[in-house]
Amino acid sequence: MSARVFWAPGRVNLIGEFTDLAAGPVLPAALDLGVRVEAVAADSIDLSSHELGGRARLTADGNPLEGEAEGWARYVAAVATELALLGRPDVGLEGEISSTLPIGAGLSSSAALEVATGLALCAVADFSLEPLALAQAARRAEHRAVGVPCGILDQAASLLGRAGNAVLLDTGSLAYEYVPLPEGMTLVIVDSGVSRRLESSGYATRQEEVGRALTAFAGRKPLEITRPEIDAKEARGALDPVAARRLRHVLSEGERVHEVARLLREPSPANLGRLGEVFTEGHESVRRDWEASTPELDYLVELAREKGAIAARMTGGGFGGSIIALAWADQADELADSVLSAYGNGGGAAAKAYVCHASDGAGQIS
Ligand code: GLA
Repeated sequence: MSARVFWAPGRVNLIGEFTDLAAGPVLPAALDLGVRVEAVAADSIDLSSHELGGRARLTADGNPLEGEAEGWARYVAAVATELALLGRPDVGLEGEISSTLPIGAGLSSSAALEVATGLALCAVADFSLEPLALAQAARRAEHRAVGVPCGILDQAASLLGRAGNAVLLDTGSLAYEYVPLPEGMTLVIVDSGVSRRLESSGYATRQEEVGRALTAFAGRKPLEITRPEIDAKEARGALDPVAARRLRHVLSEGERVHEVARLLREPSPANLGRLGEVFTEGHESVRRDWEASTPELDYLVELAREKGAIAARMTGGGFGGSIIALAWADQADELADSVLSAYGNGGGAAAKAYVCHASDGAGQIS
């Protein structure tokens, strides 16, 4: 039996950071970096990875065959368990996993792993799931594997991506549409070298804080709450200042998502100028109101702007990880190089740049 090959990309979020924790809109693009699974059907799950190190040996429904699943095998186990709960027949998978995605850079290497193995497990068992149903199962797997209460952004972006486009996704209704990127617009991602791990970051705390704010507005749809209402509740002492700031970020960020989608669709020079401002406002809001930026990310964003990026901001789960800068294709490499050399080892960590293109979402490639 010849092996089948599956591919799932990482993602970069153009804007709409942390809004998926309050059913808001996001605007990610799938990357040309990702996870590949080459495998055949088998009785149990036996996946190795030369690059990532280690091996996942599990029953077809995700129980470890010996000891406990560790490292990346935890994600594979959790995906198999979630799919079994949805009725996937117990067919195993034997093969190899490889990845071109840096780990800890905030580009969703874990979501890409979940989606790639999820697709492979579904295919060998002739079990079909709609992309967004698989994204939801993969998201639940992330919770199950490492206890991170993430939103749907990463897994949905990996599945829904389309070459040359960003995906405008309403994480409340899961309705989505594509937003074409202007011809030649390139994604320059600079990893600050300060590795982030969702498990140990303040991500969960932020989610509790925004949850507290939403509870104070019980019965209201998050995106219908207005800023004056937040201010009034805070002034009355019915909402603590931290929760108020978190909610202010989520609401203003949702507005920025729609503005960015509109600007990208009509990329006149004036609109591209405004795009830079909106990214700057978004970065500032993550720094000030959501409090998930780092000095390294702030510095990289400042450098990217100074070196001529169309727009730049932090991207992903925060507390480390990467920035996204938008640049024209013929200037992208130069931008990446000049940011890296000016950053030096800013903060003591080695930064790395990736010049990427918005790419197609996950699927079987052979
Ligand atoms: C992480 C989470 C996503 C999202 C982003 C921030 O990547 O997994 O669900 O909340 O952070 O936008």
